[in-house]
Amino acid sequence: MRRVLITGATGGIGRTLVEEFLDRGWFVGIQWRGDEAEARRLAALAPGRTSLHRADLSLETEVAAMFNGAAFHTLVANAGKYESRSCGIHELSLEQWDRTFQNNTRSAFLCLKHFLKVQQQCGSSECSVVLLGSTAGEFGEALHADYSASKAALKGLMLSAKNEIARICRSGRINMVSPSWTLTPMAREFLSNPAAIGRSLQTKPLRRLVRPEDVAKAAVFLADPALSGHITGHNLMVSGGMEGRVLWSPEELDASSV
Ligand SMILES: NC(=O)c1ccc[n+]([C@@H]2O[C@H](COP(=O)([O-])OP(=O)(O)OC[C@H]3O[C@@H](n4cnc5c(N)ncnc54)[C@H](OP(=O)(O)O)[C@@H]3O)[C@@H](O)[C@H]2O)c1
Repeated sequence: MRRVLITGATGGIGRTLVEEFLDRGWFVGIQWRGDEAEARRLAALAPGRTSLHRADLSLETEVAAMFNGAAFHTLVANAGKYESRSCGIHELSLEQWDRTFQNNTRSAFLCLKHFLKVQQQCGSSECSVVLLGSTAGEFGEALHADYSASKAALKGLMLSAKNEIARICRSGRINMVSPSWTLTPMAREFLSNPAAIGRSLQTKPLRRLVRPEDVAKAAVFLADPALSGHITGHNLMVSGGMEGRVLWSPEELDASSV
């Protein structure tokens, strides 16, 4: 039975990832930090095919303990945090910058590091990693530079790791899934703003927001060697064909001054 560890498993995308992997017969390690009740609910969906792992992923001691003795073929590094308060770079506090990098970038790095350590120790020949990026890492996001930079950094981590993972593990692969706005609690504030939703949909031929299932199915595809065994170093955008951002409203533009 294939075994996957999913981080941030009690969040909006995380719980759908758990359900999707369980539906496909995988053993699922459920990493959680704050929401024990939800972690237990998820574990009870498939008794004997789940395990629970409590950890703050910004702390290396806790990440190392989580991987100690754990034999997973796949890591889905999904945990992350978006500061919903909008803030320009000139006012962004160092504290927020560091906190965002801790939750998004440092956590993914630490999980990847200890996952690879285990693969090396057990001489594994096949493994896969899926990182959760964001369209913000690809297109940027004004007033959320901490978040977009922390997600863009994951792409650099992935591109380096793809050349290392295949040395550790003959068929080792790492890829990324980058959703645009997804219907989860993380997007609560955005979802309460119809004008922002409108601006977002203007950039997407498919004219709808992402559902957690869209992300989970893409992650399963990239995780499973039977489906994507020759794909590595790829950033799969799950964004309905998003082309970028709407930057100006018509009243901010003056066609006569161009
Ligand atoms: N929703 C969107 O619109 C969207 C769009 C693009 C990308 N994404 C990315 O998709 C991933 C999942 O997002 P989501 O919408 O499911 O968000 P969510 O509902 O807020 O869930 C995020 C999860 O990550 C966990 N987490 C954050 N920092 C952690 C840390 N240092 N240690 C342990 N756990 C930590 C949270 O645990 P706690 O409950 O303990 O805080 C929570 O379970 C994130 O990486 C996010 O950046 C989301």
